[in-house]
Amino acid sequence: MQLEIEIKFSLNGRMVQTKVPPTMTTLVMLRENFDLTGGKLACGEGECGACTVKIDDRTINSCLMFAVDCDGREVQTIEGLGGVAGLEIMQQAFVDHGAIQCGYCMPGMIMQARYVVDQNTDKSHQLSRDDIARGLEGNVCRCSGYTKVVDAVAAVILDEASA
Ligand code: FES
Ligand code: FES
Repeated sequence: MQLEIEIKFSLNGRMVQTKVPPTMTTLVMLRENFDLTGGKLACGEGECGACTVKIDDRTINSCLMFAVDCDGREVQTIEGLGGVAGLEIMQQAFVDHGAIQCGYCMPGMIMQARYVVDQNTDKSHQLSRDDIARGLEGNVCRCSGYTKVVDAVAAVILDEASA
């Protein structure tokens, strides 16, 4: 019988418990144990960002993190970004600006975009398009939709600055 380890953590704001083999990745656990299939497996090597989720206060490539290391942490996935009320502002901006093509990279891209904007706590420094592009450089889009992605993130920055 395969060894499984019990872990408990906050998942999209709710405490959950599950059993995972020691070598299972966070990405596989989220997809298989919780049906949270937003994060995608693409490179599996930490190079493309398709699997990006937020753990505690930073984003990570969930294909590279063992699921057991989620124990006691706060995990947020793309499914936890919006809510029953609808899409979160970053998700809506991607839709409104036509930034989504095949969509495969988008859950990771949007998680990273939200993180980049949230990190900019000094609102007196408005992130430039170059800042946004730098913040998203670990997220690869094979459909090459970067211009519209940056448009969407820049629009969110403007909206949130005027709110
Ligand atoms: S699938 Fe995780 S970084 Fe590419
Ligand atoms: S929208 Fe297709 S890979 Fe990014």
